[in-house]
Amino acid sequence: MEFEGKIALVTGVGHGLGLETARQLRAMGASVYGADVHADEVAEVVAELGAGRVRQMDVTDPAAWADWSAEVLAREGRIDILVNNAGGVVGQVHHPVEEVADGAWDAVLRVNLTAAFYGIRAVAPPMKRQRGGAIVNISSGAGRSVSLTGIQAYTSAKAGQIGLTRQMAYELGPYGIRVNCVAPGFVRSNPTTEKQWEGMGEQGQRELVASVPMRRLGYAQDIADGVLFLLSDRAAYITGQVLSIDGGMQLF
Ligand SMILES: NC(=O)c1ccc[n+]([C@@H]2O[C@H](COP(=O)([O-])OP(=O)(O)OC[C@H]3O[C@@H](n4cnc5c(N)ncnc54)[C@H](O)[C@@H]3O)[C@@H](O)[C@H]2O)c1
Repeated sequence: MEFEGKIALVTGVGHGLGLETARQLRAMGASVYGADVHADEVAEVVAELGAGRVRQMDVTDPAAWADWSAEVLAREGRIDILVNNAGGVVGQVHHPVEEVADGAWDAVLRVNLTAAFYGIRAVAPPMKRQRGGAIVNISSGAGRSVSLTGIQAYTSAKAGQIGLTRQMAYELGPYGIRVNCVAPGFVRSNPTTEKQWEGMGEQGQRELVASVPMRRLGYAQDIADGVLFLLSDRAAYITGQVLSIDGGMQLF
């Protein structure tokens, strides 16, 4: 029970990597609070995490962050962990750069990068008071290289999360707060990745798997395992780092 007594916030907890991370944290003793924008997802997760622990919330809304952190603090008195997981391509597909609309660019930046900033800003004061905390931002292999989706804003936002991680690690380190980042490879964890996978066709699928040194795609559990390591005391002297969890796709 490595996380016994720890109070954790996880965003995008409705399914996929966020749900698996919440499940693992809970199994290891943490008191987990989750947020997701979709009401039906929230309803399903409530059954698992418990009433009052899952909030329907848009992570791109700064006021919602203020409410959520205040509510958890009122109930628990502290916040030890934040996992900024909610994100993705917001239903978008690739368009040539000259055809990308302002709103499309902004939407992807907001959910992946700006929301991570809002989250860190909300939990920094209690973590500073406690003189400790651990934050993990879920970036992507796209943020270290390019995106399979070809979506310019996604690559930019995920790279931006890495910069945010480093700057926050530098600023918050003196308070005992660690900030790290995970860069997953391709995980078939949601309708968008399923669509991408189907769109590749059999030949493309074979080529993708063959391009991974470990010769398989990732599972949500692979990603959650790395997140939990970075959140745990086993990573007590690790901050500002990016951990690729991708079967060796990014080798540098
Ligand atoms: N699956 C992959 O291959 C992969 C690879 C690299 C990085 N990632 C990143 O991992 C994270 C999780 O991905 P996933 O595959 O589990 O995605 P997912 O779509 O399965 O889960 C994301 C969750 O976030 C929620 N969400 C989306 N927008 C939100 C908002 N504005 N406010 C609150 N909740 C919101 C969704 O409802 C969903 O439940 C994302 O940041 C994604 O970019 C995923």
